[in-house]
Amino acid sequence: MKTTLIHNISKLLLIEDQGRPSKKGQDLGHFPTLTNAWVLIQEDTIADFGSGTPPPADETLDAHQGMVLPAYVDSHSHLVYAGTREDEFAQRLHGKTYAQIAAAGGGILNSAKRVQAASEEQLFAQASARLKELMAMGTGALEVKSGYGLTTASELKMLRVAQKLGQEFPITLKTSFLGAHALPPAYASKREAYLQLIIQEMLPAIAEENLAHYVDVFCEEGYFTIAEMLQILEAAQNYQLKAKVHVNQFTSTGALQAALEFGALSVDHLEAMTEQDIQDLGNSPTIGTLLPGCSLFLEIPYAPARQLIKANATLALATDFNPGSAPSGNMNLMVSLACIKMKMTPEEALSAATLNGAAALEMGHQLGSIEKGKKANLLITKPMQNASFIPYNFGHNPLAQVILNGQKINYA
Ligand code: NIG
Ligand code: FE
Repeated sequence: MKTTLIHNISKLLLIEDQGRPSKKGQDLGHFPTLTNAWVLIQEDTIADFGSGTPPPADETLDAHQGMVLPAYVDSHSHLVYAGTREDEFAQRLHGKTYAQIAAAGGGILNSAKRVQAASEEQLFAQASARLKELMAMGTGALEVKSGYGLTTASELKMLRVAQKLGQEFPITLKTSFLGAHALPPAYASKREAYLQLIIQEMLPAIAEENLAHYVDVFCEEGYFTIAEMLQILEAAQNYQLKAKVHVNQFTSTGALQAALEFGALSVDHLEAMTEQDIQDLGNSPTIGTLLPGCSLFLEIPYAPARQLIKANATLALATDFNPGSAPSGNMNLMVSLACIKMKMTPEEALSAATLNGAAALEMGHQLGSIEKGKKANLLITKPMQNASFIPYNFGHNPLAQVILNGQKINYA
C-alpha cells in the first residue's frame, strides 16, 4: 500500500484525541495541536501523525512550514442551480427587499424556472464548474439540496445531477430533498395538493432511485408552515430520510422547537433566535448550522453563535451556497465571517467548519479531524504559524494544497 508523508508542517490543527464525532458548547474551540509535525497517509487514509523525526514513506510532500488541517465539510449548500441572479442583487442594492423580489416572482421561483428549462447535462456542467472551485478552496465534503425543481421531474433531475457529481468528483457528497422550498405558482390556491405531490409522488420516486439522504423544508412565514413541515418530515421518515431543515431565517415562530422535538439531525440558519430558542437548541442533541454568508449577503442578523456556545449547542458552519441569498461557496470566508461577525474564536470556527460539519452529515467518525483511520482529506496552508491567520486574511485563499482521499487536487 502506497504511503505519502507530509512533512515540515508548522502546526497540525484539529487533532481529535478523544474519538468524538462532534463537539458541544465550550468544547468546540479546544483541540490538541502539534508543532514541527508530520502526517503519514496510506492510500486514502490518515495512517499516523506526530512531531519531530518523521517515518519513511514511498513519497514525500513538503508543507514548507504551512499548517495542516482537515478539509472543510460544507453541510448546507444549494450547489445545483441554473443561471445566476445578479439582477436581483442589483435590485436589492437599489432598495428592493428579498421578500419583495420573491413576492414579484423572483427569488426561488426565478431559479425554479431556469432549472426546469435546463437539461441534466447543462445543470451538471454548471455545477461541476462551481464544485471544482469549492474543492480548490478546501471543501472536501458537501451537502447538496434539491429545491429549485418544484416539479417531480425537475426535483429528480437536480438530485440525479447532485448524485452524479459525487460519483465523478473525489468529494464526499450527500443530498437532501427540498421539494418544500417554495410553493409553485400553479399551486397558489391549492397548497394541500402540492404537499400531496411531495408526499405521494416525489418522495416515493426519490426513494425508489435512492437519490436523497435527507429531507429539508423551508419553514418560514410565506413559505411552509410548521404543520406542513411536520407532515413532510413524517412522510420522509417512512423512507429513512432524516431531517435537516431551514428554520428561524427571518422569524422565530416555533419552527425550531418543532424540528427539535421531531429529532432533526440539524436546524439550519438560526438568524432569528429568541432567548428561549437559544436555550432549547442548547439542551438538544440537534446540530445548529450557521450560515454567515447569507447574513452578509442579505444584510440580516447573524446567528447568535456566542450565546449558542454558552448554552451548550453543537454548532456547524456552512456556506448555504445558492444563487439568491448566499452566492459564495468559500469556506475560508465563512470561517472569517464567523470570527469577525459572530465572534467565534478561530479555533471554534474551524471546528464548526470541519468536525461538526461532518457530524451534520453523520460522518463525524470518518471526516473532519486529524485522527488515525480517518479519511486523508487534508489542507496544507501557505507558510503560516497559527490558526488565527486563516480568518485574519479574510477573502484571501490561505491554502497551498488540497488533498482529498490522499490525492492532490489541482483545479485552478
Ligand atoms: O437557504 N432560505 C431558503 N433558501 C435559500 C435561498 C434560496 C434562494 O434565494 O434561492 C437559503 O437562504
Ligand atoms: Fe439554504
